[in-house]
Amino acid sequence: MVGFAIVWATARRARTTGLVRHVHQERKHTMTRPVRWGFIGTGKIASTFARDLQLIDEGELVAVGSRRRESADAFGDAFDVPRRYGSYEELVTDPEVDAVYVSTPHPMHFENAVLALEHGKPVLVEKAFTMNAAQARDLVALARTKKLFMMEAMWTRFLPHVVTLRELVSRGVLGELVVVEADLGKWFAPDPSSRLFAPELGGSAMLDLGVYPVSFASMLLGPPARMVTMVDPAFTGVDGQASMIFGYESGAHALLTCTSRARTATRACVTGTDARVEIDADFYAPSSFRLITRTDDVTEYHFDVAPRGLQFQAVEVARCLEAGLIESPVMPLDETVAIMETMERVIATLEPAPLA
Ligand SMILES: NC(=O)c1ccc[n+]([C@@H]2O[C@H](COP(=O)([O-])OP(=O)(O)OC[C@H]3O[C@@H](n4cnc5c(N)ncnc54)[C@H](OP(=O)(O)O)[C@@H]3O)[C@@H](O)[C@H]2O)c1
Repeated sequence: MVGFAIVWATARRARTTGLVRHVHQERKHTMTRPVRWGFIGTGKIASTFARDLQLIDEGELVAVGSRRRESADAFGDAFDVPRRYGSYEELVTDPEVDAVYVSTPHPMHFENAVLALEHGKPVLVEKAFTMNAAQARDLVALARTKKLFMMEAMWTRFLPHVVTLRELVSRGVLGELVVVEADLGKWFAPDPSSRLFAPELGGSAMLDLGVYPVSFASMLLGPPARMVTMVDPAFTGVDGQASMIFGYESGAHALLTCTSRARTATRACVTGTDARVEIDADFYAPSSFRLITRTDDVTEYHFDVAPRGLQFQAVEVARCLEAGLIESPVMPLDETVAIMETMERVIATLEPAPLA
């Protein structure tokens, strides 16, 4: 069971002074039993998700598959996983596994997700969902043909501050949306064998980091009607930095940035005709925000969430499986495909010359 507390506190120039409210919301699902997860891959994000799964009742990690049995055993020992396999093929044939989580580098997502689907397993696929839009379309078609659940692991969507932001937007509190700003930059050591820079591992600032701002804008404004971009390569030639301006039919703009060369502010701001929401760093992880009206009344929102917050996406998978859904209405597959199409358009504008 996942719960989170929201604290409303008045702040500077707020019209209603002295108001502090604590609201505890609990999302309960009447599960017949927890979803029994099997992981493909034993890397960094698999470890984080394994830890976060321990925080909830809706899912448990029962099996892990690795390219090497030793890695599966080490991961199994670290996270108390009873069933360990030295191949991904063995994992997907385990009848005790209800759902598969694909946590390999992006170039392997397609074949690993196909493997799971072909063996009748619902699948959660790490971001970036695939290497390109064509692969995404093919994967979605396969899941739909097989009538199996699939979702991009865009965990940000399920975090309490993002859920609350969406509620404010849908209630019209912000008015008509005018500008969405989002930024994600991280510094990575310039190692040519790193997943961020090696072409064969899907190296790309857009696919690894830019996917968060692009998905955030998509969630609020849909697919862009037009775009202006500046994309520069990292030292290996893959995209290393991107600045994007997207335009929408509504007249709204999105200003989005990503880089693998520096730790940036990683904040986001959603501005409407009546109010704006300023999300603190890191906007894509558990965070807090301020709602600021156009007359500068400020309301602070704080969310009491255990790090890192990957458990919320597992609760959504459990809810969907329990309800017999084959995709999540919060992270629909058509939107995942549209996000891949948008990123593909951006990456296509990559300048050939390496950064100085
Ligand atoms: N949601 C998030 O916040 C988040 C954060 C970081 C990354 N990600 C995504 O998750 C995926 C994995 O990222 P990561 O940082 O966890 O990567 P990582 O630490 O390098 O782990 C990737 C794992 O994939 C498996 N693998 C299969 N083929 C591989 C190959 N040719 N080279 C290297 N590893 C291979 C390996 O597991 P075995 O050896 O056990 O088979 C490896 O441990 C990426 O798509 C990334 O974008 C998501």
